[in-house]
Amino acid sequence: MSNTATLEINGEKHEFPLVVGTENEIGINIKTLRGVTGGVTTIDPGYKNTGACESGITFLDGEKGILRYRGYSIEDLADKADFLEVAYLLIFGELPSKDQLDKFHSDIKAQSVVDDDVKKIIDAFPKAAHPMGVLSSLTSALTAFNPSSVNVDSEEDMYKTVVKILGKFPVLVAWAMRKKQGLPLNYGSNSLGYVENVLKMMFEKPNEEYVQNPIIVNALDKLLILHADHEQNCSTSTVRIVGSSHAGLFASISSGISALWGPLHGGANQAVLEMLEAIKEDGGDTKKYMGKAKDKEDPFRLMGFGHRVYKNFDPRAKIIKVAADEVLADLGVEDPILDIAKGLEKEALKDDYFVKRKLYPNVDFYSGIIYRAMGIPTEMFTVMFALGRLPGWISQWREMRLRKEPIGRPRQIYTGENYRAFKDIAKR
Ligand code: ACO
Repeated sequence: MSNTATLEINGEKHEFPLVVGTENEIGINIKTLRGVTGGVTTIDPGYKNTGACESGITFLDGEKGILRYRGYSIEDLADKADFLEVAYLLIFGELPSKDQLDKFHSDIKAQSVVDDDVKKIIDAFPKAAHPMGVLSSLTSALTAFNPSSVNVDSEEDMYKTVVKILGKFPVLVAWAMRKKQGLPLNYGSNSLGYVENVLKMMFEKPNEEYVQNPIIVNALDKLLILHADHEQNCSTSTVRIVGSSHAGLFASISSGISALWGPLHGGANQAVLEMLEAIKEDGGDTKKYMGKAKDKEDPFRLMGFGHRVYKNFDPRAKIIKVAADEVLADLGVEDPILDIAKGLEKEALKDDYFVKRKLYPNVDFYSGIIYRAMGIPTEMFTVMFALGRLPGWISQWREMRLRKEPIGRPRQIYTGENYRAFKDIAKR
């Protein structure tokens, strides 16, 4: 195979080297394109064909339905590892030894107190504020409480920043929910596991002890692992591009949270539940909504179906579907919403429109159902996604800084007015 690609523009040929990844993915390195062609650029709306970086963190093959973190399959990790192990793996590249994991956890715990003044910021938010907005603002506010910038050339500095955000973020997650519910802002307990602590902080009532349910702990752990990274998605690309200006980790993560909020990305899990509720309210006629989804005149889309990259099946959806069935059975939850979800899934999988376009249920189709069974309010679903995605964002930010990537600055093709002489206001 040739290791270059040739591009002919106006009769002139230009050669560009091919970049081959460890899984034999091929990219055309067009770094010199503008220079050798005198300013020709590429245009690729939504970056559907553009690789923004080389990365050694996550591999996914959308056609085959493969997802691996640092070479380990998502199936193995969801089955055999816990969330903190996966976080360590993503960020530092290797599975931790027992000692490394214990140290990592205790360093995170040592950072799990948030400056008390953060509570004043939370107080200033209206109760109706969406917890994603609150979380994004609070994460950005952490910069103000930790003003010294991280020296990325110091391993120790990097490590400290990483454990700091992993320690404080779950507190902000819990507080974003508690603010909405009018519950006092609390702290967890350093004697608990990372995920157990999250649950305690979220659900503990001021007047009764929170009793852990291992089924819920296990399901949440799994959900967080499944969401932990997904290579260059919208929020991760946002974190990398903001960080490429050498903005700090907290500011970069805060912008990732905003990117995740949208219903076409992480907000889909909330949108799925709202859609299922609406179908139920409307009599539960799934066929009617299938029709709406296929009608090009109707803006309605079947939330939780389709994926930019997975055009076969979403391997996370397979794992989570099993977990959803287990959690609902174990908790004895009977939920008409679930019946509607199952009905939609069944119909879509055999419907020509969905089959032709390779639209399969994605991870968000099932995650919302589990969160609901756990008693997590709908508006918190995307916040839970952010909690899971945190290690991915950190590892991608760290990789980008360690590889000394240049500032992200795409080009454009200008399609506006040509030069116009300025018109005085009296003559307009
Ligand atoms: N319902 C109905 N039709 C759909 C859906 C859907 N959920 N998704 C895609 N289509 C159709 C489009 O109308 C289009 O049809 P056409 O070829 O006749 O014009 C075709 O399928 C391709 O759709 P695109 O929007 O071009 O696909 P793209 O890869 O750009 O979008 C996306 C992927 C945004 C996820 C889309 O499938 C969608 O909107 N799904 C619903 C929202 C959702 O579940 N998002 C979560 C994504 S997963 C995550 O962020 C973790």
